Amino acid sequence: MFETLTQAPGDKILALMGEFAADPRTDKIDLGVGVYKDENGVTPIMSAVRKAEERMLSGAKTKTYLGISGNKGFGAAVLDLVLGDAVARNRVRIAQAPGGTGSLWVLMQLVNRARPGATIWLSDPTWPNHQPIAENAGLKVASYPYFDAATRAVRFNEMLAALDALGRDDVVLLHGCCHNPTGANLTNAQWDAVAASLARTGALPLIDLAYLGFGDGLAEDAYGTRKVVESVPEALIAFSGSKNFGLYRERVGAAILVARDAASADIANSQMMNIIRASYSQPPDHGAEIIRVILEDKDLRAEWEAELDLTRARMIRLREKLAEAIRQRSNSKDFDFIGEHRGMFSLLGLPREAVDHLKVTNGVYMIGDSRINVAGIPEDRVGVLADALIAAIK
Ligand code: LMR
Repeated sequence: MFETLTQAPGDKILALMGEFAADPRTDKIDLGVGVYKDENGVTPIMSAVRKAEERMLSGAKTKTYLGISGNKGFGAAVLDLVLGDAVARNRVRIAQAPGGTGSLWVLMQLVNRARPGATIWLSDPTWPNHQPIAENAGLKVASYPYFDAATRAVRFNEMLAALDALGRDDVVLLHGCCHNPTGANLTNAQWDAVAASLARTGALPLIDLAYLGFGDGLAEDAYGTRKVVESVPEALIAFSGSKNFGLYRERVGAAILVARDAASADIANSQMMNIIRASYSQPPDHGAEIIRVILEDKDLRAEWEAELDLTRARMIRLREKLAEAIRQRSNSKDFDFIGEHRGMFSLLGLPREAVDHLKVTNGVYMIGDSRINVAGIPEDRVGVLADALIAAIK
């Protein structure tokens, strides 16, 4: 039967991860996959996570099933973290899901049940996995203007004009914060305008919230999501705990739906439960239980927030250092945007040849579209990296 198959495209981000690992050079620099790294180049287990795991190991009494929506305490705590008091909880339902990707998958399947073949509008550019997840769910994919390659800022007027032209059958995927891959984000005033546009047109927002706390702070990064759900009758949110809790391989996230009222929330939720049961039945618990323990415990939560603050401050410092090093060497402000962007990524706007040159000549790895993960900038070799970048675009 397999003779009917043809080679499927690989994932460029995960493929680059493999290429980097196989490169024998000891001075190689990994600016590829979106994984946080500390000053030793290590993706650490956060101290609050370790303590929560120890507590779980000694206290756990059973491994029996938890049910289709997963860990209930996790669900309640994540809703408070994401929504604050933005929307009455009787209109909201949450299902723990395998990572941000699993959450997006569940929510896009749900959209396709509500509006088979609906169009989902993605930012141009967006995370490369959005399109395949949407297409696998049966949705049509279109894009709205987002990033201005010349100024490295958001083309907000064009974005808003595109959103204003949508209707009730459309879905708009928005990055809740820390836009991936560009690093260029909406201001609060721009979020207000997006929320007002969605309220006017009736297009359904699906917010991908994979980097909460990596931009300007937990509450600051939730501003757009909260504003949107306050403004519209229906919304979807895909939350990820991979980055902000450093739980990548545990695959922990949540699919959140906001409906007009409790009765329609129940119906939409029954479809969501049906989708999950017929795919992976129930989510794995380990990562969700870690997050529940941390968020419900005052001390562990404070410890986690403090570590997240340090993580964010380090990424901002690395951004500023690289921007400054390039400015000093090139005597131009062309790369100042790196210091102004927020989150884990910036899209440098380099031609493909420069990206390849950096990999081959300098062992500097970034995604082919020239997205860099700022957490991979080596703090003690910022000058070396700046020299390599400047040489590559000369
Ligand atoms: C990324 O964009 O690098 C991360 O979200 C990891 C992934 O799964 O692609």
